[in-house]
Amino acid sequence: MNYENLLITTENNIATITINRPTKLNALNVATISDLNKAFKTLGKNDEIRAIILTGSGEKAFVAGADISEFAHFSIEEGTQLAAEGQEKLFDFIENLKTPVIAAVNGFALGGGLELAMACHFRVASENAKMGLPEVSLGVIPGYGGTQRLPQLIGKGRAMEMIMTAGMVTAQDAYRTGLVNHVVPEAELLDYCISVANKIIKNSPYAIGKAIKAVNANFKEGKNGYEAEIKAFGKCFGTEDFKEGTTAFLEKRKAVFTGK
Ligand code: COA
Repeated sequence: MNYENLLITTENNIATITINRPTKLNALNVATISDLNKAFKTLGKNDEIRAIILTGSGEKAFVAGADISEFAHFSIEEGTQLAAEGQEKLFDFIENLKTPVIAAVNGFALGGGLELAMACHFRVASENAKMGLPEVSLGVIPGYGGTQRLPQLIGKGRAMEMIMTAGMVTAQDAYRTGLVNHVVPEAELLDYCISVANKIIKNSPYAIGKAIKAVNANFKEGKNGYEAEIKAFGKCFGTEDFKEGTTAFLEKRKAVFTGK
């Protein structure tokens, strides 16, 4: 499939999605959100794809935010719809995808860009990356899940400060607070993410999908994460991956998982 604003490559069961609007610092306009939605849907259904890496094109930005030019004139209703649609189509969709998604944060990740990185299952940043939620400087608040996911990742007090000051943090600050898991030199970012993805794809895709679901359950209002974990745990026992994983261990060989 061809996308107006994305480049997608696939190698050894790992797909890399590159958001490709470098002249606009990869800002998320409606067309890009729609492309991303289609790409994640398509890749998520493909059993051959065991991990997805999301990054931005150019040397400057992962994503510099939602495209301000598209919403500057919006009414209350349009603003509400923008957030609701975006959250459902893209941000929640990525968070709940059973295929692991790693954000390779290669520069500015601001506003909707940081929210996009936070919707991924975890983040790796290059040394030059800068992250922030500058929305209040525009007279609005984060609308793609930022007020929820940032406190989950770095704690309420730190999130309050970042949101209220609208300031940016460096990659090292983000690492210190748990916003990103690793910081690596710019030139090594994608290879590093691929090496982490290679560790992931050795494991049972079925079990990984269920683990994502169980971890996420704790962060959804009205859901009991422990109960969700019990259900997901039990389901694993009916799978070929579980039989293969335990048999391989007992036979002292490497497991070959199919995701079934
Ligand atoms: N929406 C729309 N366009 C954006 C954008 C966004 N969020 N972020 C950057 N751009 C565009 C700029 O308008 C500019 O386009 P132009 O060349 O047609 O004028 C181009 O991307 C390059 O950005 P520029 O501001 O010239 O680069 P810079 O290096 O001087 O500054 C930033 C980089 C990231 C500090 C600055 O672009 C910025 O503050 N962006 C907005 C960040 C933001 O508030 N995001 C949250 C939105 S809710």
